[in-house]
This record gives sequence, structure tokens and C-alpha cells, in this order.
Amino acid sequence: MALPVSSRFQFAPDVSICRILNGMWQVSGAHGHIDPRRAIAEMFAYHDAGFTSWDLADHYGPAEDFIGEFRREFVMRHSAQRLSEIQAFTKWVPRPGRVTRRMVDDAIGRSLSRMDVECLDLLQFHWWDYADRSYLDALKHLADVQHEGKIRHLALTNFDTERLRIITDAGIRIVSNQVQYSLVDRRPEAAMEGFCRDHNITLLTYGTVLGGLLSEKYHGRPALYRGELNTASLQKYNNMIDAWGGWALFQELLGALKPIADKHQASVADVGIRYILDRPTVAGVIVGTRLGVAQHIADNARVFSFALDAEDRSSIDVVLAKSRDLMKAIGDCGDEYR
Ligand SMILES: NC(=O)c1ccc[n+]([C@@H]2O[C@H](COP(=O)([O-])OP(=O)(O)OC[C@H]3O[C@@H](n4cnc5c(N)ncnc54)[C@H](OP(=O)(O)O)[C@@H]3O)[C@@H](O)[C@H]2O)c1
Repeated sequence: MALPVSSRFQFAPDVSICRILNGMWQVSGAHGHIDPRRAIAEMFAYHDAGFTSWDLADHYGPAEDFIGEFRREFVMRHSAQRLSEIQAFTKWVPRPGRVTRRMVDDAIGRSLSRMDVECLDLLQFHWWDYADRSYLDALKHLADVQHEGKIRHLALTNFDTERLRIITDAGIRIVSNQVQYSLVDRRPEAAMEGFCRDHNITLLTYGTVLGGLLSEKYHGRPALYRGELNTASLQKYNNMIDAWGGWALFQELLGALKPIADKHQASVADVGIRYILDRPTVAGVIVGTRLGVAQHIADNARVFSFALDAEDRSSIDVVLAKSRDLMKAIGDCGDEYR
């Protein structure tokens, strides 16, 4: 199976990505046991199908090591020249407090070594506490490391619009911000999208399929009890659904999505992904992959085979209009972490 050209996005002049990225939080241990051998084998299945882009972080358990191992096996199966087919976007999530150049060097050095790369394709920076402006020091150090050739592009995750402006005004070039964005959590529409459009910044989104809740599997089901929420992702987005409008309204949303999915011979998850991919400034949607446990390659490939029409959008909008405004309930992108 090969994905169509429309699956690709020129993320930066020297980096093209698949618009559905494979999320590796799911290998961290908080989503069930992952067998490393099966996981690496499955990474080839994703790559060979056209899903060549990976999203990971320094703290996602073995994720960076998996990239390193995958690259080494890739060279054995193919060649070192073809390594440029793989895009691996990691994150640095430092503990709150002062950030020195030495700390930045150590963190970047660790990721380079674990991922077995000479230069990180993308480094996405997270910060816990805006009251501590050390995030600007950290980003300036990261920009220096970038100029030395160890980071290709600098990015953020979970930053709000106000801080994105402060960072941009400080002259730090950011290519993307990774934020939660789904039919349920549409906070980026309020301010983030407009700012990104005006400053040539793209969005990478997560939570778009709500940990799998946005699927036929949960249509017509009563609210889930605690024991059924058996991954960190399901717990996270079940809470988000509660804040958004609750399980009954979510069932209405699934009920509106099902006929749209059927019409396009796609799935409910595909419709949710397509909707977000069509938003301005969205470069890609990250979909979590429980490597070696569960796999959605064929289904997710269908996202690139249909377009939503005006009728589809209006039947979705009827349900969305009944939900709470999460911008008011939670705050801007990433505020749930602070
Ligand atoms: N920057 C941040 O703070 C942050 C936070 C969260 C996540 N992320 C990134 O985003 C990635 C995604 O994580 P997430 O928590 O947002 O999870 P998600 O992508 O919303 O959900 C992933 C789960 O959805 C299910 N799924 C995927 N495709 C499906 C389909 N076509 N039909 C039905 N179910 C489908 C799978 O469940 P099963 O495995 O059960 O089949 C999969 O494990 C992470 O790996 C990480 O890279 C970043």
C-alpha cells in the first residue's frame, strides 16, 4: 500500500512529513506492555506503508532508543542513504528551574545518542511554569545548539499564544507548536491558529482521535467505568469529554460522524482526523501507535482518500455548537498542564 502524494507536507524546506505522524507516547509503559522486538518490526510496517514520521519525547520510555534501533536495522535492510526517508521529532521536557547551556548540551547529546542521529530533525521544547521565564534562556541555548548543527529545526509543545508571541518577539525562530486539537478540543481555533498563520508556524496536533474514543467501538456505549479506561490516553481524553459536554453529547457526536464515515467508506476516526487536517496551519495529526499491540494502518490510510463536504461539516457543527467553550473552561492550548 502506498499513500498518495496528498499525504505529504513540506514541513520545512529540508523536511517533508507524512501528515499522519506515528505517536510514541504509547510505548512509554502507560498504555500496556510493549515488546521491543515486535515494536521495531511494526515500525517497518508503518514506514513501508508511507507513515514515515514519528513523534516522540525524551521521557516516553524507550521511544528514542526504538528510533535508534529502527535506524540501525533500516540501514541493514536498505542503506544509510535511505535514512533520510525517516523523520523523527523528539521533545525536551526539562524539570522546572534554571537552565544552563551545559544542561541543554547534555539533554541534546542524550537524544542524539539514543536516536543514533547526528542532528535532530526537530526538537520540541516543553515548559511547565510560565512564571519562571527561564524558558527564554533555554530556547536561546537551543537556538545556539541549532546553529552548531545538532538540531535542524526548533519547535514547541503545549505553549499558549501569549508565550508563543513572547518567544517570537525575542527573535527565536519556531517552526511548529504541538497542541491538543480534536473535534472535542477546538481551543486552537480561538487564537493559536491565527497567530501561527501570521508567523509562518504550523501546528502538530495530538488527542485528535481521543485515545481511540473517537471510533465506532464506543458508539452506542454507556459511559465508561474506571476499569475500562486502561490507557493513560483513554483517561486523559475521557476527562476532556467530560469538560467538553459529557458522554451523552459525545454519543451525539459519534452518531453524527458515523453516516459521514459510511458515506466516504472511511471510519469515524478518519473523519475526525480529516476535519483537523483541513484546519488552517495544521501540518500534521499525530496518532498514537501501540506498536506490536494494536494497529490501524489500513484504516488511517483512508484519511487521504476522501474530502469532507459542506453537508458533512454542517451536521458536525450542529453537535459542536452544543458543547462548552473549553477556552473558557480550561484556557488556551497547554493550560491543562499548568
Ligand atoms: N505534547 C504533548 O503533551 C502530548 C500529549 C499527548 C500525546 N502526544 C503525542 O501524540 C501521540 C498520540 O497520543 P494521544 O494520547 O493523543 O492518543 P491518540 O492518538 O488520541 O489515540 C491513540 C489511540 O487511538 C486508537 N486509534 C488510532 N487509530 C485508530 C483508528 N483508526 N480507529 C480506532 N482507534 C484508533 C489506538 O487505540 P488502540 O491502541 O487501543 O487500538 C491508539 O492507541 C502520542 O503518542 C504523542 O506522540 C503529545
